This record gives sequence, structure tokens and C-alpha cells, in this order.
Amino acid sequence: MYYPDELIEEIRSRNDVVDIISGYVRLQKKGNSYFGLCPFHNEKSPSFSVSPGKQMYYCFGCGAGGNVITFLMKYENMGFSEAIKSLADRAGVSLPEPEYSEEMKRKENKRQRLFAVNKEAARYFYYQLRAPQGKPGLEYLSGRQLSEETMKQFGLGFANVTSNDLVQYLKSKGFEEQDIIDAGLASMDERYGLHDKFWNRVMFPIQDANHRVIGFGGRVMGDGKPKYLNSPETLIFDKSRNLYGLNFARTSRAKNIILCEGYMDVIAMHQAGFNQAVASLGTAFTSGQAGLLRRYADTVILAYDSDGAGVNAAMRAIGILKEVGLPGKVLDMKPYKDPDEFIKNLGKEAFQERIDNAENSFFFEIRILQQSFDMDDPGSATNFHREIAKKLCQFEEEVERNNYLQAVAKRFQIDPDSLKKLVVSYAAKTGGVKPIERPKSLTAHEGQKKNTPEENIKKSQRLLLTWLVEEPETYGQIKKYISTEDFTEELYRKVAEILFASLEKGEMNPASIISMFEDEETQQQVAELFNTKVVSLNTKEEKENAFHDIVYAVKKNSFEYYSARLGTDLTAIDQVIQAKKALEELSKTHISL
Ligand code: GTP
Ligand code: MN
Repeated sequence: MYYPDELIEEIRSRNDVVDIISGYVRLQKKGNSYFGLCPFHNEKSPSFSVSPGKQMYYCFGCGAGGNVITFLMKYENMGFSEAIKSLADRAGVSLPEPEYSEEMKRKENKRQRLFAVNKEAARYFYYQLRAPQGKPGLEYLSGRQLSEETMKQFGLGFANVTSNDLVQYLKSKGFEEQDIIDAGLASMDERYGLHDKFWNRVMFPIQDANHRVIGFGGRVMGDGKPKYLNSPETLIFDKSRNLYGLNFARTSRAKNIILCEGYMDVIAMHQAGFNQAVASLGTAFTSGQAGLLRRYADTVILAYDSDGAGVNAAMRAIGILKEVGLPGKVLDMKPYKDPDEFIKNLGKEAFQERIDNAENSFFFEIRILQQSFDMDDPGSATNFHREIAKKLCQFEEEVERNNYLQAVAKRFQIDPDSLKKLVVSYAAKTGGVKPIERPKSLTAHEGQKKNTPEENIKKSQRLLLTWLVEEPETYGQIKKYISTEDFTEELYRKVAEILFASLEKGEMNPASIISMFEDEETQQQVAELFNTKVVSLNTKEEKENAFHDIVYAVKKNSFEYYSARLGTDLTAIDQVIQAKKALEELSKTHISL
């Protein structure tokens, strides 16, 4: 749903950032700001600040930041529109009804009907499990040590041995045959007519992140085939974009997500208190699911079966996690096969221990790799070392690569210098270290950043923006030197354009700029632009010098940036001339604040 900017701004400004955040975080006033323990990373002393003036929050520890909308998006894992709706609600602002095309309306109606059929079916299965005819199901689940409460939480149910009672029930409730078929609950057979898809199975309703039933998994009683039968994909059931248990795991406060293969495993883990567990839906883990997990966790712990198939699946999953920049770890479940069996036999404390000791996915991969080499044969051992070198090349950052190199050399007793040579020669052959795509926000941590020249330039641009936000009166001092074109980073320039336009009008409202960007990552980056820390400056003179240096650095970079584009960019010449003049003037001028 598209909302006009003015409406978004009205909703944002009617929700005070301190009010909202203090509902979640205990805040204490310090100077012009409030401070508390950051809800987005673990810390012992408060570096999370909320500024009533800027109507923003920012954590100096982990870089999380934004306005009241960003906060809800991040803390409650909401989408942009969802956050807007919730804030509108709180402030009593009414939102316009969306306008849909006929086609969209039809599709939306169909979706709503499929949700309704599924919900009614889940209800039916749920009651069957508790009825006399559901006794085998209930006995089965109790036999697997699930408590009444757990069964209730996951809405577990039972599909009877009779083969069309669900269809009869749903029809009696007024549902159309076509909708029952399209929900994947029944199919039409020439001989028997419409009949249930699921029978004689305990039923696991699969819910989306908003707790709506989108499909089912059914486990057969006894040893029938297939062991698990799942709903087919439907208009509302996309197996590659949902995960079993995510509706609960998304609000878990654990910093990791545990990813496993089975419904029973998820349930057993939740019952033992590991409410961050999810499973893929009877299909292989996909990059869509990995992208989903990135919103909720900073590490994924793989708890796949400890057999050969499980190891292969884990290897694949590690690759997919890498693509989206999520660090993975692998849980060792031996001597048991899966989390359910492990917890049953060794208990939750032992399981927690395994989580704490989960193996870094890099070492897991290397260890598995080693099994296909004969370490007693020098040729084979060399090939193994080459494979390690190849894997090391995936770390684009030199420090990280070296750390892994040292660690792996030590663990496998390889001479680190020789290994380094292998890495260099592999990198030379393939044209350098192969970077893994990493989303910016995962490294948007001021303290972790390398101080490359590009990073320093970006930092001066950020410092200047922060300065202008905190002391808008300085705008008058710099506008003759600095234009928005001097912000050579695209996002920075966009923000500068909006900021300069409002400063021209004598206004200053940084929080409103943040909500002009819809995704949480961009909002966070914009918040960072307005919260770049200036080293503490004591005297007026120190302050003025620092400010001068920042302005000068931004301008100098702009000069160099456009000089390099003289042949290709038609506007560059103006920029270069203007920048040169400004630099000459700046070197003679003292900016007084
Ligand atoms: P039990 O503990 O014996 O109930 O099973 P499990 O949880 O240990 O599951 P298993 O490792 O056999 O399978 C893990 C997951 O793979 C299940 O939760 C299903 O999603 C899926 N799966 C297992 N068997 C089948 C099958 O026969 N067909 C399909 N489509 N999926 C299956
Ligand atoms: Mn099992």
C-alpha cells in the first residue's frame, strides 16, 4: 500500500520516539538525550541513545538507528506499511483504504478464502485429535512426549481414517469445492469424487509469520508411505518463502536462529525452551528463506540430521547462507540423529551446551572436505591444502582471511607460510580473492570499519551531515562552499538534497527524512548519517578547526572525484572549477561558529 509522504510524516510526528521506545527499553535522561541498554545487541553498559530533539534513536555500540518507524520495524519485525498502520492506530490517525484493480481484488478475495478454508480445516483437525476417533493421534503425540500445552501452541490435529469427512465438514460450513481443492486439502477423482488429501495422519498446521495457516504437514500413523505428506504449493503457500515455526521464532529474543529439517524437531526444541527454532517445509533450504532469516537473526545454527544426507544438506545450506551474508554454525548432535532425539535423551542443558559449542561453518566444511582425501598420500594431502586455500579466498577482508588461515593451519598442522603461498597463487590464477556478497548493514558498525581512504571520505561526509543536523545554524557558514553534488555517495547525496532543501526553508527535521526510505536497512544507514560521532571537542577553537577540516575534506574529495570524471561526465567540469575555487578560499578562510 502506498501512503503519501505527508501522511507518513503526520503519523511519525504524532508518535514521540521517547514515548514509544520507553515502552520497550528502560531509558534514563542524560543531557539532551535518553540512554538505555540496546535491545539490538547484547551489552552491559548503555550505548543506545534516544534523542527527543532529533526524534531518532541510535546505538553507538552496534550502529542500529532510525526513527520511530524504523524502531517498530526492527523490534517487532514489521514491514514498513505494518509499522505505519500500527503507529497510525496508536495516534488515532485513520488511513485511506487501498484502491485495487478488479484483477487484484479477485486475487485478494481468493487468497482470503483460502486462508479461511485452511483455518477451518485446522480447527477441524484440532477437534478430531481430541475426539474419540482421534485417540491414536493423541496417543502417538503423547508417546513422543509432547505436552498438552505444546500441542495446543502448535495447533496439532488429526486427520481421520475416513477419506472424505473433512470435505463434508468444510462444505457444511459453506465452503466451495473449488476453494477446498485450491487450498490443497482435497482432490477430485473420477471414480470416488472429491476426497480428502490427508487421512490417518497427525496434522501440523504450517503458519506464516503472521500466524495464518497456509498449509499442512501430516505424519502417517505407523510405517506407511510417505512418512510425511505436505500440502502442495498454493496461492498462499510458497514453500521457498516460509519456514515452520517462524511465527514464534521471529519474536524470540535469541540472537541466533536454529534451522533444522523436521516439524517434530522444531516442536521438541520449542518445548525445551529453544523458541528460536525453525524448519524448512519438506523441501531443501532456499535463498528466499535465507533472506527471511537475515531479518531475524545474525547467526544461523544448523541442526540437520547427523547422517550423510543431513551433512550434505548442511553443506548446501551453508552455501546459501553465505550468499546472503549470514554466518552459519553447525551443531553436533552425535550420538543422536536429530534435535528431537537428542533433547529426549540428553536434555536441554546438554543441548544448550551443543549450541554454545556449535562449529563455525568454515571449519565444518573443511572437516567434511578432508574425509574425501587420503592424508597419508602426499599428493592427496596437497590437494586438500589447495582446497583449503581456495576456501580461504572467499574471505575478502585480509584480516579475516589471515585469522582463518592461522586457525586452519594450526588445526590441520599445515605450515602457515606455505598455505599463504597457496592462497596467493590461487588468487592470482582466478583473478583475486573472490568476494562474497555481503549486505552493508552487517558491517555498518563504526568500530569495525577499516579506515580505507574511501571510508574516511564517507566518514567526513557523514560528519558534515550530522553536524548540520545538530547545529543547523552552521548551514549558513558552509552553503557557499558545499553543494549537494559534493556528497559523492549516492545515498548521502539524496539525503543531503532533502536536508539542504529544508535548511533553506529554515527547517530541520531529520526523523522525517528517515521515513522517506522504506526499507529498514536504508533507514538505518540514514540514521547513521545523522549520528556520526565527533571526537569530543573542548574549546571553541578546536571545534572550529574540526569543522573546517571536515568541510575541506568533503570539498577536496569532490574535487578529486569530479576531476577523475572529466572526460566522461559533462557536468564534471563545472564541479571541478567550483571546487577548486572553494578549496582556495577555504584554505585562506577561518570558519567561525
Ligand atoms: P519423525 O521424527 O520420524 O516423525 O520424523 P523426523 O522429524 O525425524 O523427520 P525426518 O528426518 O524423517 O524428515 C524431516 C522432514 O522431512 C519432515 O519434517 C518432513 O518435512 C520431511 N519429510 C520426511 N519424510 C518425508 C516424505 O516422505 N515426504 C515428504 N514430502 N517430506 C518428508
Ligand atoms: Mn525425528
